Amino acid sequence: MAKVIDGKGFADRLCEQLRDEVSSLKQAHDLTPCIAVVLVGDDPASHVYVSNKVKRCEQLGIESREHRLPATCSADELIGLVAQLNSDPGVHGILVQLPLPEHLDENAVINGISPEKDVDGFTLLNTGALAVGQRGLVPCTPLGSLMLLKDQLGDLSGLNAVVVGRSNIVGKPMASLLLQENCTVTIAHSRTRDLPGVCRQADILVAAVGRPRFIKGDWIKPGATVIDVGINRIEEDGRKRLVGDVDFDAAQPVAGAITPVPGGVGPMTIACLMYNTVTAAKASRGLDH
Ligand code: GUN
Repeated sequence: MAKVIDGKGFADRLCEQLRDEVSSLKQAHDLTPCIAVVLVGDDPASHVYVSNKVKRCEQLGIESREHRLPATCSADELIGLVAQLNSDPGVHGILVQLPLPEHLDENAVINGISPEKDVDGFTLLNTGALAVGQRGLVPCTPLGSLMLLKDQLGDLSGLNAVVVGRSNIVGKPMASLLLQENCTVTIAHSRTRDLPGVCRQADILVAAVGRPRFIKGDWIKPGATVIDVGINRIEEDGRKRLVGDVDFDAAQPVAGAITPVPGGVGPMTIACLMYNTVTAAKASRGLDH
């Protein structure tokens, strides 16, 4: 049976280290890391994510400022708010919760964020820096997934990694990070031929497709390390539950190690957002992370 990777425990330990670091930044440099979180509209899942982020900030001594705008707000209002946060020296990180209402252009809003405050790592500059192996802020979910993989496997050099899903938020940056670790990387997607056969080649399988239990047990190479990025809300036997993109019960007897949902990658995403916020705050004073 696969080892179940304790993402929650890893995230808690990372956050404890960050809490100590935040406390010494306050004492030694009179610096309190601060993140501005912008939430547009009333998507219920987004509200839950934002409140989890704000709670983590409180635990760590990071200041969080929440800005809520109505779903009907204009592009000018939202981009104006981002510009104001860019020029506020007390704000080190800016996160605009996605998805945005349809009338707003996500790319225009994201690229309005100053790259040095882009704690999601979604701006063109940070995306490009990651693609060419330069320093920058790295998207939180791929960064957290990589931390779990390195903790589990140590050196990843030469391993076959298959990333299922090609989103800008997870799939593509995950592939860049794995390539930097000298993996042989395949990005698979909805048009991939023989997806089960491609997945079966993977020593590292990252599932980021957004479909409940899409990856079956017999798609997994025996002993593989499986990172399940999916957070799918389903109703089963009259009960609401969260499930991943991997059929966990079928995968567990085959895989070497697997992240659960919940309690795997999810907590790591928030912990890495805290990490990026501390990194951005330190960089604003020329302090190395
Ligand atoms: N919506 C779902 N995931 C994310 C994320 O990582 N960052 C932002 N800003 N919005 C999201």
